[in-house]
Amino acid sequence: MSVTVRVPAKVNVQLGVGAARPDGFHPLATVFLAVSLFDEVTATPAGEPTVTCEGPDADQVPLDRTNLAARAAEALAARAGIEPAVHLHIAKNIPVAGGMAGGSADGAAALLACDTLWGLDTPRTELLAMCAELGSDVPFSLLGGAALGTGRGELLTPVDAGSFHWVFAVADGGLSTPAVFREFDRLTAGTTVPEPEPSPELLAALASGDPDRLAPALSNGLQAASLSLRPALADTFEAGIGAGALAALVSGSGPTTAFLVRDAEGAAKVAAALEASGTCRTTRTASGPVPGATVLPA
Ligand code: C5P
Repeated sequence: MSVTVRVPAKVNVQLGVGAARPDGFHPLATVFLAVSLFDEVTATPAGEPTVTCEGPDADQVPLDRTNLAARAAEALAARAGIEPAVHLHIAKNIPVAGGMAGGSADGAAALLACDTLWGLDTPRTELLAMCAELGSDVPFSLLGGAALGTGRGELLTPVDAGSFHWVFAVADGGLSTPAVFREFDRLTAGTTVPEPEPSPELLAALASGDPDRLAPALSNGLQAASLSLRPALADTFEAGIGAGALAALVSGSGPTTAFLVRDAEGAAKVAAALEASGTCRTTRTASGPVPGATVLPA
């Protein structure tokens, strides 16, 4: 018997970042949107805990216990007082180290898959708390939909959202999230960084479902840091906007760039232009919000 969980990627449609806290984390006011770009994690009983991965970027995924999926299984087993005797197979479609919470998604998916496989029925609030221990973005991967994230991003309040179409341009190579936050610190050193606040305009635009209203409201406080580490992303922006995208922003800490488009037809056009431009490695089209980590029927 195995259990497979499907889990979405995310884009932050607002990412407000404050000055580093004493623990090194940055206070956030962020709005997460789960989009229809999925990984699948399958948990199967096994003698030893092991992880395997398939997909275009599988070679960049660590298969040891630094993998968030492995750590999720270990944490859940420890809590239940059992051995993490499980094989986790990750079918990876979310860009690796791309700012789309791919690793976090696998952590949330593994937690839910193991909880189901082991028949633990852990209450949702406890699963969310365990997700928060695994990483700041992991609770949202479990929750999905659209949500305001505060604290270091782990404290979630669901928000209303209409459906929106996106194109994601996947860059060559990833960016390390801590490195992007460090660059944010460097760029803002000596300035007063205001406390991050949710944007009322952004929340209203998101609820309206109107992409023309959402476009000017999108913002990412990490974008300058991401662009500073990857100046070539400016060319990707130009290519997508030139092809008719309503707006462009770096997804999370990057280097994936997100383009808001009006509809599926617009998405196909922008994706084709981005691929032809040579300013990215590949593209993905997606829409959202979509549900969070979900057990697939056996
Ligand atoms: O929480 P997570 O392990 O995903 O975070 C990875 C790293 O990103 C942290 O170690 C920290 O350097 C940085 N980070 C941060 N502020 C946040 C979230 C992450 O500085 N709110």
